[in-house]
Amino acid sequence: MTKVFAIANQKGGVGKTTTTVNLGAGLARLGVPTLIVDLDAQANATSALGLEKTPGRSLYPVLHGEAAAADMVVTTSTKGLSLIPSEVDLAAVESELAQGENYLGRLRAALAPLIDSGAHKAVLIDCPPALGMLSMNALAASDHLVVALQTEYLAMEGLGQIVGVVEQLKAAGAGDRLTLGAIIMTMFDGRTNLSKQVVDEVRKHFPDKVMDTVIPRTVRLSEAPSHGKTIFQYDAQSPGAKAYAALAKEFAAKFGLK
Ligand SMILES: Nc1ncnc2c1ncn2[C@@H]1O[C@H](COP(=O)(O)OP(=O)(O)O)[C@@H](O)[C@H]1O
Ligand SMILES: [Mg+2]
Repeated sequence: MTKVFAIANQKGGVGKTTTTVNLGAGLARLGVPTLIVDLDAQANATSALGLEKTPGRSLYPVLHGEAAAADMVVTTSTKGLSLIPSEVDLAAVESELAQGENYLGRLRAALAPLIDSGAHKAVLIDCPPALGMLSMNALAASDHLVVALQTEYLAMEGLGQIVGVVEQLKAAGAGDRLTLGAIIMTMFDGRTNLSKQVVDEVRKHFPDKVMDTVIPRTVRLSEAPSHGKTIFQYDAQSPGAKAYAALAKEFAAKFGLK
């Protein structure tokens, strides 16, 4: 059975896209057929995977009933890792979705045939940096919310907001399958006490949700996307590659993806 994960956080720049791309590549390398859905009009996941933004190639026509999700899937240079790309058109969906019927369930309906086909074991949805219609749709389409949480001061505060949205969605009758699946701590700086304190505090509140693997802040991880490469293609021996490989292993075991 295919499991769907929304990689989300209302803040930008916290490592959602970096985590989606490299966790996705890590899972594919473990033999888990994985699909990344780029749901951000900025298309950072698309370019990080070395693919061009192409007009008409995104979820936009799918959400408008003009194409099937399966028609938008492209392969990437990582074996076993596929992508539904994004492009600027997707920005318009944010306001259009709010007007239609079943406005929280549109993405779920659009992806259903692809998910039910079982072509992928894991679907990772890279959400935009806001809790708008697109992110809400992503959550309603998912089995698990995965929060990418930057290891920084006041991390807990932002976490409370997004976790609250899970309850709101359920109260609204959307996202009946959705649970808080995992919290991934990103950009950890081992040289500072603050980083350690933040991780400890989040673990204290969500002991069974925070992944054991913590992603360090490293320059190589920030360089890889501009080369259109995953961290495994860019520098396989780097600490960032080792961290995402460990995360993928832990993630696959936690969610029974193997
Ligand atoms: N662990 C990390 N170490 C160093 N830089 C990182 C790390 N994770 C992400 N970055 C960089 O930080 C910026 C924001 O990350 P990104 O994954 O795009 O966040 P988001 O998708 O949440 O906006 C990008 O420039 C990215 O390359
Ligand atoms: Mg992003």
